[in-house]
Amino acid sequence: MRPVRRCASVARNDGTVTDPDSFAALLTPEGQALLDALHDHDPADELATATRLRRDHPASLVSAALGQARLRQRAAAKFGADARRMYFTPNGVEQSTRTAVAEHRAARLAALGVRSVADLCAGIGGDALALARAGIRVLAVDRDPLACAAARANAEALGLTDLIEVRCADVTGTDTAGCDAVFVDPARRTKARGGRIFDPEAYSPPLSWAIGAARTAPYAALKIAPGVPHDALPEDAETEWISDGGDVKEAVLWFGPTGAASGAPEAVRPGGRRATLLPAGDSLLGADLPDPEPGPVGDWLYEPDGAVIRAHLVADVARQVGGRLIDPTIAYVTADALTPTPYATAYAITDVLPFHVKKLRALLREREVGVAVIKKRGSAVEPEELRKKLKLGGRNSCTVFLTRVAGAPAMLLGHPANAQVTSGR
Ligand SMILES: C[S@@+](CC[C@H](N)C(=O)[O-])C[C@H]1O[C@@H](n2cnc3c(N)ncnc32)[C@H](O)[C@@H]1O
Repeated sequence: MRPVRRCASVARNDGTVTDPDSFAALLTPEGQALLDALHDHDPADELATATRLRRDHPASLVSAALGQARLRQRAAAKFGADARRMYFTPNGVEQSTRTAVAEHRAARLAALGVRSVADLCAGIGGDALALARAGIRVLAVDRDPLACAAARANAEALGLTDLIEVRCADVTGTDTAGCDAVFVDPARRTKARGGRIFDPEAYSPPLSWAIGAARTAPYAALKIAPGVPHDALPEDAETEWISDGGDVKEAVLWFGPTGAASGAPEAVRPGGRRATLLPAGDSLLGADLPDPEPGPVGDWLYEPDGAVIRAHLVADVARQVGGRLIDPTIAYVTADALTPTPYATAYAITDVLPFHVKKLRALLREREVGVAVIKKRGSAVEPEELRKKLKLGGRNSCTVFLTRVAGAPAMLLGHPANAQVTSGR
């Protein structure tokens, strides 16, 4: 017999609410009590939990609360402890800005003297909340009524209603006059298949509209995909690539008055390229250096952070560490000495060899390497395929770089500068 499918009037099959009225039910005392009861619930026990709660509460509300609890758990990676008190939509969890990045941007706007921001495409309020916490008044605009309901609930939950006004409207008709700055975070994914949109003109609203809106405000920040081609960057904007914990999260186009507060670190540098590494907040502004010369692999290899690579600032890092490239087309820097930099991870290099699987296997065996971190840049070899062939075993560890040196496939062996050396040199 086919199982009878339960129908929830206020929630879709996975329990996630899809309309503002159903969302509002979560904000009633009964909805709140359910959400409180689900704070630490184990998703593995969901069926038993749902059955128990449905004895005392409407099935649709239980289903919606369980859906919201799931979203909160997913959102914890972005919002930390706040996620337990916040409200999400499925799109909202995915598309919202993580707290670390939103706080960094809000702090820069505050340092620029911005006191009010039109947050266009505010979603569930990831950025609006950080802006308000930085003391900035926010007009948060989104055309999705459910996202607006979540943004309002989030402002309330985090005690920021005095600073955040949520308006459900199309941003293209929103008057931003009177705001010190405009922030635009366009939707970058198709709703139908959930895939990412790469063409900036396919953003909603299109990037050209957002740039036009940015140019009407004293200051503006536009969030864009970090893979944006450099030749698509407007000349009057500074572009900042931001990584968090080593992962590149986004790029931001900054617009501001030319020459204003130009000595200050937060000042917008039109045409500038910047890499900012969170959580520490180190920020490297490019000096328009020519590509570094390639040269022989030295005792140290530097792997630049992804934000540095995306911002095309490898030359700046090479200059910092007195280094050179191992190959004109590869973003690995090498030097003869260790010069600590926040912008690259340094490795002590023990071996530089032409790529050869059998030779590598023999070397790692001889050195009793049981754990190998395999990194690749400019190599077609699949690390996991290679790992199977290496049949590793032993008490030592090693980092293997599959790359090119002076145009030829090469393998470099070493270990991180801050690691204890466990393999022989
Ligand atoms: C990437 S999300 C914003 C995320 C937000 N910054 C946050 O951190 O929570 C993009 C949002 O743009 C909204 N959007 C897209 N086109 C819009 C338009 N023309 N007018 C208003 N909102 C729009 C979508 O509804 C979606 O919520």
